[in-house]
Amino acid sequence: MARDGAVYVCQSCGSTQTKWAGQCAGCGAWNALVEEVQSRPPGAMAPAKGARGRGLMFEGLQDAIHPPPRIATGVDEFDRVCGGGVVPGSAILLGGDPGVGKSTLLMQVAGSAARRGVACAYISGEEAVEQVRGRAQRMGLGDAPVKLAAETSLREISEGLKREKFDLVVIDSIQTMWSDAHEAGPGSVTQVRAAAGELVRLAKKRGVAVILVGHVTKEGAIAGPRVVEHMVDAVFAFEGERGYPFRILRGAKNRFGATDEIGVFEMGDAGLAEVKNPSALFLNTSGERAAGAAVFAGIEGSRPVLVEFQALVAPSAYGTPRRAVVGWDSGRLAMVLAVLEARCGLGFGDRDVYLNVAGGLRISEPAADLAAAAALASSALDQALPQDCVVFGEISLSGEVRPVSRMESRVKEAAKLGFRRALGPADVDSPALRMTGAARLSDAIRRIGEADWN
Ligand code: TYD
Ligand code: MG
Repeated sequence: MARDGAVYVCQSCGSTQTKWAGQCAGCGAWNALVEEVQSRPPGAMAPAKGARGRGLMFEGLQDAIHPPPRIATGVDEFDRVCGGGVVPGSAILLGGDPGVGKSTLLMQVAGSAARRGVACAYISGEEAVEQVRGRAQRMGLGDAPVKLAAETSLREISEGLKREKFDLVVIDSIQTMWSDAHEAGPGSVTQVRAAAGELVRLAKKRGVAVILVGHVTKEGAIAGPRVVEHMVDAVFAFEGERGYPFRILRGAKNRFGATDEIGVFEMGDAGLAEVKNPSALFLNTSGERAAGAAVFAGIEGSRPVLVEFQALVAPSAYGTPRRAVVGWDSGRLAMVLAVLEARCGLGFGDRDVYLNVAGGLRISEPAADLAAAAALASSALDQALPQDCVVFGEISLSGEVRPVSRMESRVKEAAKLGFRRALGPADVDSPALRMTGAARLSDAIRRIGEADWN
């Protein structure tokens, strides 16, 4: 029997049950129910008998709009993902694998903002002040007026934030914070939820922007209950492929901006450097383009980004040929292979197929279909694409090449980087770049098979 006020909370999905069971009725996870004592949020009183609300105040749609003020931190790649700077009184959750560079990024954000006169605090629950300071000094932020503290008690933190007025507070990490109003241990669902709730409340009440670091589980989700993601105003993911220095900040949710925006950084000896021109980074512009390579003119958020798709099609040694893909969706690859087989007569049934997006970027745009198909066909036909050609277009199951969004920006970025030709959904004839339009995938593949493009 549960004690008075105690419930069983699933550590996997956060659902609560009154009785313990081996399996969670909410998500089916085994051995995930843990007894936790529920209590009211701190400061909230029990409602008096017969208490009544004051009633809603309704407003019209035509009333004036006041865009939220923004704090520009000076780390442009970060500010852009926020939607033009951090909104005072908002809460941001930053998730990412251990060691990807979350603490490094946020120290740089705090340091840069503090230098511009924003009152910043960095509260670490994972490292000692000495360690945090040492890292900041190594990154050349020794002179930035950021206030450091090592603390995990929410009571101490909220007391401290009441005493001193800050504009921006970093909490590293939410899983190390605990409230003495709850019996559950730090890192438990109850504690994470309570800590996030308390900090978000504090942010709203005092007009402080709070950035919470969140650990990520092996499956890639932010550890703790999903409700934390709903409590905050924005959720960002900090990603990086192992072995590459590039780090990508991606918006997963943002109440104050677009979510398809990315920020690109490069991890070096002195912390993270902002990458203002990602195309130059992801692209190998020197040397011949080999058979199997196609440059995709993509759009990430508001920016055009050029990346190379690399394919290798080789005879299979096994009964079941291999399909391996890095940086792109494997379902999408299967679809493109099927369309190439059915509509263009290119057979992959007895061949292994490997597809890789160079540089460690993950592409999710449908506009990349034609670039992937071009790389695959180029490898299968052993015919390299011209060095100065970019490719983009969506492919339908019937084998048509469909127009995509923002073609002009794609073409412009390619021309800026010295590309003179494009293979895409429509003819474009500009002095800088000539795009050959292919209405069907088979037309594009025929074009790739031609040795001479002129
Ligand atoms: P960190 O910010 O501690 O990661 P997280 O908070 O996400 O766990 O970064 C850890 C990694 O970054 C560590 O492996 C070392 C590397 N690093 C650099 O390469 N250069 C630097 O200047 C810093 C500060 C870290
Ligand atoms: Mg860290």
